Amino acid sequence: MSGNITFTMIKPDAVENGHIGAILEKINQAGFKIIAMKMTQLSKRDAELFYEIHKERPFFGELVEFMTRGPIVAAVLEKENAVEDFRSFIGATNPAEAAPGTIRNLYAKSIGENAIHGSDSDENALIEAAFHFSGREMFNR
Ligand code: RTP
Ligand code: MG
Repeated sequence: MSGNITFTMIKPDAVENGHIGAILEKINQAGFKIIAMKMTQLSKRDAELFYEIHKERPFFGELVEFMTRGPIVAAVLEKENAVEDFRSFIGATNPAEAAPGTIRNLYAKSIGENAIHGSDSDENALIEAAFHFSGREMFNR
């Protein structure tokens, strides 16, 4: 079961630009099942904790500023091979390098403001899902 979930956020740029519906439609069409979802806004502390792994990087301040500037849509997705398949589905971090048809190719403008997040490992998927959702908000059991 643990290999079958990933965690995603539709980031503030994509929410501001009205892409929530289109992105959720593509997520479903790609075979991911939404098992938890909410619209919320990260506090500075939330964003600093969520992206703690990047805290020494030069873009960390900008990243926290961006991720907290407006609402996001957080969701937990279930699919066989969810983490790897979702990373392929959203495309490269830099939208200029994202494959045609991927979410970042379609909806992202820059490496900093790149429309969507996807967990990078099964372990992080579980940690990130638990960061945003309680057990009773996840509908996979
Ligand atoms: P994410 O964690 O959001 O799914 O993105 P990712 O794995 O593709 O990329 P990661 O290396 O984890 O970077 C996290 C987020 O930091 C911002 N970033 N800005 N200005 C820059 O050079 C830069 N590099 C990364 C992006 O929002 C990236 O998604
Ligand atoms: Mg990452």
